[in-house]
Amino acid sequence: MSADGSQPLWWQSGVVYQIYPRSFRDSNGDGVGDLAGVIEKLDYVSGTLGVDAIWLSPFFPSPMADFGYDVADYTAVDPLFGDLDTFDRLVDETHRRGMKIIIDFVPNHSSDQHPWFIESRSSRNNPKRDWYVWRDPQPDGSPPNNWLASFGGPSWTLDETTGQYYLHSFLPQQPDLNWRNPEVKQAMFDALRFWMERGVDGFRIDVAHRIMKDPDLRDNPPTPDSGQIRHKDQADYDTQLHIHDMGHDDVHEVYREMRALLDEYSSEHPRVSIGEIHIFELDVWSRYYGGALDELHLPFNFGLLAVPWDATGVQQFVNALETAIPEGAWPNYVVGNHDEPRVASRIGLARARIAMMLLLTLRGTPTVYQGDELAMEDVPVPPERIQDPWGIRVGDLRLSRDPQRAPMLWDASPNAGFSAEGVEPWLPIAADYATRNVASQLDDPRSMLALTRRLLTERRDSPALSLGAYEPVDVDSPACMVWTRYSGDERYLVALNFTDQPQTVSIPGGGTGTLVASTHMDREGQVDLSALNLRGDEGWLVRL
Ligand code: NOJ
Repeated sequence: MSADGSQPLWWQSGVVYQIYPRSFRDSNGDGVGDLAGVIEKLDYVSGTLGVDAIWLSPFFPSPMADFGYDVADYTAVDPLFGDLDTFDRLVDETHRRGMKIIIDFVPNHSSDQHPWFIESRSSRNNPKRDWYVWRDPQPDGSPPNNWLASFGGPSWTLDETTGQYYLHSFLPQQPDLNWRNPEVKQAMFDALRFWMERGVDGFRIDVAHRIMKDPDLRDNPPTPDSGQIRHKDQADYDTQLHIHDMGHDDVHEVYREMRALLDEYSSEHPRVSIGEIHIFELDVWSRYYGGALDELHLPFNFGLLAVPWDATGVQQFVNALETAIPEGAWPNYVVGNHDEPRVASRIGLARARIAMMLLLTLRGTPTVYQGDELAMEDVPVPPERIQDPWGIRVGDLRLSRDPQRAPMLWDASPNAGFSAEGVEPWLPIAADYATRNVASQLDDPRSMLALTRRLLTERRDSPALSLGAYEPVDVDSPACMVWTRYSGDERYLVALNFTDQPQTVSIPGGGTGTLVASTHMDREGQVDLSALNLRGDEGWLVRL
């Protein structure tokens, strides 16, 4: 039973594991991961690790200008990854292990090689012209407005054949679909039906807030000197406030309709919608749950990627989120994904353990990015092997997302068990793969993997940790964040030391508890709550 008394759903109690298929396991020796490779590793995901659902980044036919986020067919599998039969097998094998499967849905844009766009650009009066956003140049030939694309340059590209510009919020190879055209909505909803009928349990919706823009295409205003909440620098893109090129109010109607569609398929198997929403103003972000909780089940919450990484910053953010979240809605947390520098590189190896304990013990659905359970770090990619178009286009290779997409490390064999020996993987294998990999960490009771598994087991067996309430505990040490989780008689306390110095924390009321896991994975047993002696960079999960 969840806090509001209703029956909890799998996506509330469970933990999601993000698989980036290109980099998970290459079963056929072409250097790129594939769906058969995912099937091979399901026992690891379900049995060894013990998560409840997988989310697969795109595997649809694509010219791969943005590694699959440029979809050329919404209802098929790219031969690089396999075929529909393999996908069906993946669904069956996932379900057979009691897990759910979530796939990516990319509604904002297709590939420029999608037949819809090829038709659309063929002439001004093609029936598909209005499936995308076309506008005349300004009198001086310049783009229709000042919008800038997320991956550099203007959001508009002139199409010489028809003399008009088309809109693309990302690469020119990713033209934005026109969601104000009812035919587009129908076609895209049909794609959702297609996958739900194949047994898919939910969708992660790519840049969900971007699909509706200002209908008058007004210019974005310049960024004021302060006041904008950003989680990373994006070069010129940051020079304007992106208020007209995304998130127009009628976006909410689309998500109400999409939710109704998912609900139609949910009587026997509840489906979930998780929206990728890069909005850091909590009042705007929380609107994507819907006024009557009738939009997205989970607008992805990226707040932990943007906060200052100290006890006060994180605590204030979590408390603010708990306050901002609508009554009855369910929170969620993320500390990494295929777009963000690895958490172990961002905040350091020791603190990555703190981040894992935080992620797996807060109230809300956690999503764990593949490899974070090993504390994988960003893998440097030499300039001649760079793949990600972002860094290349903007001319700032620091923006490249390749380092966090480097192949998963399975064992100490050549290519770390990702690809067969002698194959060149699409991105380099981490230099330390012989010592940091699944096999070696399984043998080490103090490894990051051991910690992750311990936390996942405890969470899975505990109504308090998976579904219970969250209550911050005021302590006199500003270096530490402390809270409790509880449900019925079950109660846990989590205490995290965000500094590298020892800290003693006194819990009001004192008493004793049982240390279930230290992030150092070297002690358990009874502890005195009036003086918790945390070592530097140590977190404790204590059963009360
Ligand atoms: C967000 C995805 O996570 C990212 O990888 C992609 O490049 C953009 N959306 C554009 O689809």
